[in-house]
Amino acid sequence: MYLDQGIIFILLIFISIMIFILLWVIWSDLIGAGFEPTSRRRVIKMLTMAGVNSDDLVYDLGSGDGRIVIEAARKFKAQSVGIEADPIRYIWSQMMVVLLGLRRRVSILWGNFFWKDISKATVVTLFLSQKANYKLQKKLELELQPGTRVVSYFWTFTSWDPVMVDEEEHIYMYII
Ligand SMILES: C[S@@+](CC[C@H](N)C(=O)[O-])C[C@H]1O[C@@H](n2cnc3c(N)ncnc32)[C@H](O)[C@@H]1O
Repeated sequence: MYLDQGIIFILLIFISIMIFILLWVIWSDLIGAGFEPTSRRRVIKMLTMAGVNSDDLVYDLGSGDGRIVIEAARKFKAQSVGIEADPIRYIWSQMMVVLLGLRRRVSILWGNFFWKDISKATVVTLFLSQKANYKLQKKLELELQPGTRVVSYFWTFTSWDPVMVDEEEHIYMYII
């Protein structure tokens, strides 16, 4: 009897952990896109294409491990903000920012970027999904200042005309 209860208890814990892991893995996918890092080469190309400099405030929507916002601050001397929904990647990127001594230039926010104010951005970087770009378009049009540069890796904005395209690397730049 006790053995049965023990087995049921362990089974319940195991199932709960599995559900938690499953939700954690698919959550980002459901609200935007799953994690897949952009290569450093492409990160540099994206930021170069946008002409990022020390006057810019770069927002990376879905900042993953923070590589774009970190590079924007380190190499291009910009201020940057990353918004990331995945708590583990949020903590990881916060740690990297602290370890690299970039706290004054880089902020990482935890949460869903659809609910965050992004109106101060002068450059927005994205590597999401076609569906997420489609959903995001209205928010970008409503919130961003005219002249803001939006650089998207791989996925396009079908109803905007890009001002610059790197066909080889699939990087598209738009100006609002
Ligand atoms: C394809 S990865 C890109 C990561 C990083 N920007 C890069 O280029 O290396 C997409 C990231 O966006 C995050 N994400 C997806 N939808 C989101 C949302 N609505 N709010 C915040 N983060 C989101 C995911 O958790 C994931 O880390």
